[in-house]
Amino acid sequence: MKEKLLALFSERFGTTPVFYASSGRINLIGEHTDYNGGFVFPGAIDKYIMAAINVNGTDKVRVYSADLKEYSEFGLQEDEAPQQQWARYIFGVCREVIKRGFTVKGFDTVFAGNVPLGAGLSSSAALESCFAFAMNDMFNENKIDKFELAKIGQSTEHNYCGVNCGIMDQFASVFGKKNCLMRLDCRSLEYEYFPFDPQGYRLVLLNSKVKHELVDSPYNKRRASCERVAHMLGVETLRDATMEMLDAKRDEIGEEDYKRAKYVIGEKQRVLDVCDALERGDYETVGERMYETHYGLSRDYEVSCEELDYLNDIAKECGVTGSRIMGGGFGGCTINLVKEDLYDHFVAVAREKFNAKYGHEPVVIDVVISDGARRCD
Ligand code: GLA
Repeated sequence: MKEKLLALFSERFGTTPVFYASSGRINLIGEHTDYNGGFVFPGAIDKYIMAAINVNGTDKVRVYSADLKEYSEFGLQEDEAPQQQWARYIFGVCREVIKRGFTVKGFDTVFAGNVPLGAGLSSSAALESCFAFAMNDMFNENKIDKFELAKIGQSTEHNYCGVNCGIMDQFASVFGKKNCLMRLDCRSLEYEYFPFDPQGYRLVLLNSKVKHELVDSPYNKRRASCERVAHMLGVETLRDATMEMLDAKRDEIGEEDYKRAKYVIGEKQRVLDVCDALERGDYETVGERMYETHYGLSRDYEVSCEELDYLNDIAKECGVTGSRIMGGGFGGCTINLVKEDLYDHFVAVAREKFNAKYGHEPVVIDVVISDGARRCD
């Protein structure tokens, strides 16, 4: 990818760039918990966005998307936002850096990526983190700390892209470390690296190819439900709520919001169970919790879809250890924890059955846990 970007950059801008990259992510468990102050358990993966960048001595950003074959040019003032949605991610990052009192000057860039779009692998967080990291390195002597870089990406989503997301994706993309998952407490922002090398098991994603687009999706509505319930229970976030507290107010809360909160409260404990189980090498428990999460996301949180439920059923029928919808939902992938010796069978059955029902195979993505945001010299 570096060679391709270098060629495109030289042809278009004629100077010598520096390269930066940041990764997409998976999440083993802890879904829709980040904006509820709970725990998440993500890791960065070997699918990334890479950008070739150089200063251009103007006050403009000139950017070419090698994948979309589209060009955009914009200034760095608030009223100079570009039209194209993809360019707004970069504009947003620049603005959020500037708003925090740091520097961004005009630059030229060409970028490309291999994170599947709309698959729940956080291609947008990879893009934001790549540019946030680059702006820090190029213009700010790396004075912006890593959490602030993640927050710059998150604020970009909130303020320029219309998604009221939590911190998980940008955190994973910025902090990702090879062969490690990370448990993040989204209330205190304390985190811990967990070496992840499940002997005898593999993690595989099955992309349903159902389009996943969090802008205009009910994602923001889910978050609003959670905030409403937290308010009614007199707690800051659902992290501080228990099932007893929820049940005590069940009549006032309303059925839909009750189900949303029930899922979130259950998920908090499941992440902790999975961490304990991993420390014991107990992958059966990890897998059970994954199925429970899927059930909750499908029935109570209602962010699954027919195709993902079907992939989950196939996993169960094949005896796969754990399987669930991953990421924001409304399409995208399932994440599957599967024994090595079952892998080929499972993938073959999933391909065949899914194809027979929906007319196309799911895309199989093997997961390699990798580094996050970086300069690529
Ligand atoms: C999206 C959001 C994250 C998180 C997940 C669900 O990926 O960007 O902040 O809420 O959905 O866990």
